[in-house]
Amino acid sequence: MCTTDQMADCRLMRERLLLSLESSCDESAVALVRGGREVLAERVASQTAIHAQFGGVIPEVAARAHHEWLPRLLHEVLQEAEEFGIAGEIEGLALTTGPGLVGSLLVGAGVGSAWAWAKGLPVLPVNHLEGHLRAAWLHDGSAHEAPPLPAIGLVVSGGHTLLVRIEGDGRIERLGGTIDDAAGEAFDKIARLLGVPYPGGAALSALAAQVPSGERVTPLPIAKLEHPYNFSFSGVKTAAIRQALLASGLADESPGRASVITKQLAEHPLPTRAAISIAAATEAAIVGALAGGVQRALQAHPDSSLIVGGGVAANGPLRATLGRIAAHEGRRLFVPPMKWCTDNAAMIGAAGDAILREHRGTFMNPAEGVPVAAQWPIGRPMPL
Ligand code: KG4
Ligand code: ZN
Repeated sequence: MCTTDQMADCRLMRERLLLSLESSCDESAVALVRGGREVLAERVASQTAIHAQFGGVIPEVAARAHHEWLPRLLHEVLQEAEEFGIAGEIEGLALTTGPGLVGSLLVGAGVGSAWAWAKGLPVLPVNHLEGHLRAAWLHDGSAHEAPPLPAIGLVVSGGHTLLVRIEGDGRIERLGGTIDDAAGEAFDKIARLLGVPYPGGAALSALAAQVPSGERVTPLPIAKLEHPYNFSFSGVKTAAIRQALLASGLADESPGRASVITKQLAEHPLPTRAAISIAAATEAAIVGALAGGVQRALQAHPDSSLIVGGGVAANGPLRATLGRIAAHEGRRLFVPPMKWCTDNAAMIGAAGDAILREHRGTFMNPAEGVPVAAQWPIGRPMPL
């Protein structure tokens, strides 16, 4: 509590309140974040059920769903801000402007900048991938320590897999990343092969957990790349297809494209035991590849803690393995709670606050038009 004399200072010191909005893929989300850490209100509307019937995200459908959902979510979060009596304290809108699906980003930018313009508030463009890393700073009441910088950051999601170094001043340098599929994409594609519905990662992990203890699983290969921080997951997928064809008795037929094989496997489903075994081998190969890259990065940067974000950071064995590696290297691991691993707007509020605090970006006037970018390498200025 501030005394009367301290009141003016106290108000000045009050931490920044940002509204934030995320719409880069198939989650529509709005949040209210104080000081880049405290989530005061948030809404996430997932479109997973809509896209599951197509086996993947259909960009046009995603954009339409954002168009339907974002205004409602915005209204609900603002209503909460009114109830808390803090709506007038909102300093601006942190908005995901890339990377992602252009149609989805444009709907978010349209809804967000129209609101900001009407309120006379500025907009801060935020990189979605930086949002995933900054999710590790969030808490919802039960305060925890903010991750110390510098740090090694691993972003593992459905669309991206990359390793970065976050400097003490918040600047981000890309160390490496996948040269083909993202880790989440590999989970999803192999899950589909095993008859697990989209998005598959969490369900494949649940399947893998059914391996009887002590049972030996035929391993899937981990690509050994020359670059210490790069990853490749397409070989895991090919090897999983081979194992699946073998287990279903289709191995002698000419395999063809993955979509054809998936159809063939749907007609000749794998024995449950084989599906469990392939799921376990898939998870072990992906987790092993990620863990190898992270360990090399930690060893090369002895001053760094470890931060992990993105949908695949919700994976239990990955969290456990990275925890062991961090402990072995004498570092601390920071992973967001499950709900902030997958796409959400709170992480965009956290990143927005950090960008402003660390003077790495500035607010813009929404009346000038807010650009979006399908591709936006992390740590670089947004391509215009
Ligand atoms: O970050 P995110 O919500 O969206 C993107 O930005 O891509 O990540 C979604 C990805 C999907 O590929 C999903 O299968 C994966 O995260 N995922 C998991 C788990 N939970 C979500 N993968 C493995 N294990 C999980 N428990
Ligand atoms: Zn994401």
